[in-house]
Amino acid sequence: MFKSKFGSIPKFYVRAPGRVNIIGEHIDYCGYSVLPMAVEQDMLIAVEPVKTHTLQLANTNPLYPDFSTSDSNIQIDKTKPLWHNYFLCGLKGIQEHFGLNKLTGMNCLVDGTIPPSSGLSSSSALVCCAGLVTLTVLGMHLSKVELAEICAKSERYIGTEGGGMDQSISFLAEEGTAKLIEFSPLKATDVKLPSEAVFVIANSCMEMNKAATSHFNIRVMECRLAAKLLAKYKSLQWDKVLRLEEVQANLGVSLEEMLLITEDALHPEPYSPEEVCRCLEISLQELRTQILSPNTQDVPIFKLYQRAKHVYSEAARVLQFKKICEEAPDNMVQLLGELMTQSHVSCRDMYECSCPELDQLVDICRKFGAQGSRLTGAGWGGCTVSIVPADKLPSFLANVREAYYQKNNRSLAPEKQSLFATKPGGGALVFLEA
Ligand code: GLA
Repeated sequence: MFKSKFGSIPKFYVRAPGRVNIIGEHIDYCGYSVLPMAVEQDMLIAVEPVKTHTLQLANTNPLYPDFSTSDSNIQIDKTKPLWHNYFLCGLKGIQEHFGLNKLTGMNCLVDGTIPPSSGLSSSSALVCCAGLVTLTVLGMHLSKVELAEICAKSERYIGTEGGGMDQSISFLAEEGTAKLIEFSPLKATDVKLPSEAVFVIANSCMEMNKAATSHFNIRVMECRLAAKLLAKYKSLQWDKVLRLEEVQANLGVSLEEMLLITEDALHPEPYSPEEVCRCLEISLQELRTQILSPNTQDVPIFKLYQRAKHVYSEAARVLQFKKICEEAPDNMVQLLGELMTQSHVSCRDMYECSCPELDQLVDICRKFGAQGSRLTGAGWGGCTVSIVPADKLPSFLANVREAYYQKNNRSLAPEKQSLFATKPGGGALVFLEA
């Protein structure tokens, strides 16, 4: 296909994997550690550097139209998440890092096996892949940590205020191990998963593109506002605080204490923008221009208590999960499963990032032998991840297939990758011709 598109053959290939987040949802952008692993599914780009400062992009999937540009001022349209914009995010991140103002010329054919809008991070894999492609074309070098940080930042050009989990695991993953990803400074530590259990991904078949709606950014802003209100309540310098983790760090208290402080400082009833302004002693104008993102300007209510409770409790569950993996008690799979299910309940009830189909799928997975099950990724659709004892895997797959997919006529097509067991895969790579 490359040959017929560009009349030449590729000089090298780059792959960057998607990921499944085992536990730690919607807390990376609050500063807390998360626990993902890379999946085998990835983005793969065939590349030929060219001397003209022109970028030509094609995709093996006919749903994604060709794109080309010679404009050195890279523009990324935030209003529509078009596929090539994710490539441009990675490209722009690298160009900016090296202060380059001429467009890096190349012909690229993009191929991918990560189902889109399914919570397995196809978008970040494309951003990371494009970042590594650009770096390789330029003949420059960066560490994996630097690449992950650049790509996490540059993916925000698409308009979503994501954390750094997806880009970090795409670069820092290693085959055979999940990773605890910590931020500021970015660091990945191996977490050995139990050998007697399997992690199974199931797609709810409800697509959710987090850049196409404002759900995701609303949550980021709710956490930001909760952090500011908590900081003000505790007489900290609230205007500098952006993340819930900063409040904890400034106070020097435990996550359990942060949960108690949240109960004292915030109320469960939703906050109107006017009430937030009264609490922070700022004007609506200041709230909109200095705190909120462009696509959350007119949000009528903010649920600050519920979001902060989710974040602090989820951050604690991640640490408990890692501890159990390290200590490997006899009932390890059961304990890990319980934490995963608690995470789902918190995502559903406190963070409100689930949907009826995901809840149904979680229930079905638990009914047929999963020790725990939860939504994974941003939510509002996409996939669940379940922990299943290895000896129960065949019956689990058969029963879930029947109860969720066949009964409801939901697609089990192999290309949709609806239901499969997964192992921790490796990170992004460059393949050079020998
Ligand atoms: C998306 C974001 C991540 C993270 C998850 C939710 O995948 O890109 O940074 O916030 O949602 O845990």
